[in-house]
Amino acid sequence: MLDDARILVTGGCGFIGSNFILHLLERYPNAQVVNLDKLTYASNQGSLRDVEGDPRYRFVQGDICDGELVDGLMAEVDVVFNFAAETHVDRSLMEAGSFIMTDVLGTHVLLDSARRHPNVKRFVQVSTDEVYGEMSPGAWAKESDPLHPRSPYAASKAGGDAQCNAFFETYGLPVIITRAANNIGPRQHIEKMVPLFVTSAMRDEPLPLYGDGRQVRDWLYVEDHCRALELIAREGESGEVYNIGADNHEENIRLAKALLQLLEKPLSLIRFVEDRKGHDRRYAVDSSKLRALGWAPRHDFLSALERTVRWYQKNSWWWEPIYAGPFRDYYQRQYGDRLASGAPYDPEGGTPQ
Ligand code: TYD
Repeated sequence: MLDDARILVTGGCGFIGSNFILHLLERYPNAQVVNLDKLTYASNQGSLRDVEGDPRYRFVQGDICDGELVDGLMAEVDVVFNFAAETHVDRSLMEAGSFIMTDVLGTHVLLDSARRHPNVKRFVQVSTDEVYGEMSPGAWAKESDPLHPRSPYAASKAGGDAQCNAFFETYGLPVIITRAANNIGPRQHIEKMVPLFVTSAMRDEPLPLYGDGRQVRDWLYVEDHCRALELIAREGESGEVYNIGADNHEENIRLAKALLQLLEKPLSLIRFVEDRKGHDRRYAVDSSKLRALGWAPRHDFLSALERTVRWYQKNSWWWEPIYAGPFRDYYQRQYGDRLASGAPYDPEGGTPQ
């Protein structure tokens, strides 16, 4: 499926997409990769500088909503991985239109093109565990569970997933949907919690922890995610959904403390700030279906976190320019008032109510 394949990766200048392209080119010497990326604020061409001159790799700047452009590329490939998406929950709370455009309409444009190109033998839709919504303690989402997206971001991804299902049922398009847990690792935009906290701590800036900091996420190392996607593309069944979870569940406060320890920075950098609206308390997926294919994560929570922290320490060239650009305005809007009224961490008093 992937050995001599011509592969279209959308959103390849984003976090998971760029890691996946590097993974593919390393693992499959005869594969050819086309990266279609719009170069939004979340893209970083520096992520792929090591493969820029590789004859097996081609970059095309463009939007997955551009049907003509997509048709041209679709005619040339055997496999599609759709990573292109607006992904940040906090931004979706400010403005959700771009999420609907890319995550719903863009996915539709890709699917509609793929169904008219029988050369496409596999379409992998890279989705998220957030489409299941918040999980109560002890509950684990299975692939067959109904979707209960609670943020505009999650709702847009659920819309994309629904399109995929419709194209499988209606046209027999060989689509597979994957739903992964929170990823961490190299090359993630600093708007997301882990890289924001790591780089803030390195700059001796406060770490804005939402609410009581007791929300739980499952932290999947991006390389483990890439191996899962590779396996699913090869061995998965069309029309199926595969959850990808590492079982590295941790509360945000514990994660913040662990990363400050790794960086040898004081816990006093933690600030409890006003919570995110509609903040999902816990995500958890049951990934036994994927594990039955032979996948297991290689990184536990601490190993994933330590590798991530060390990468940001070594690669300030990658993230420092982001702080100097339009991110500053976003940061001010998102965190200015919150930090001004936030409460510092008190080791005696625990977390605020
Ligand atoms: P995030 O990285 O935005 O991923 P998601 O919301 O998609 O899971 O956030 C991870 C967790 O960290 C989530 O519970 C929200 C919390 N968080 C903060 O406490 N402070 C922050 O500044 C951010 C961005 C997130």
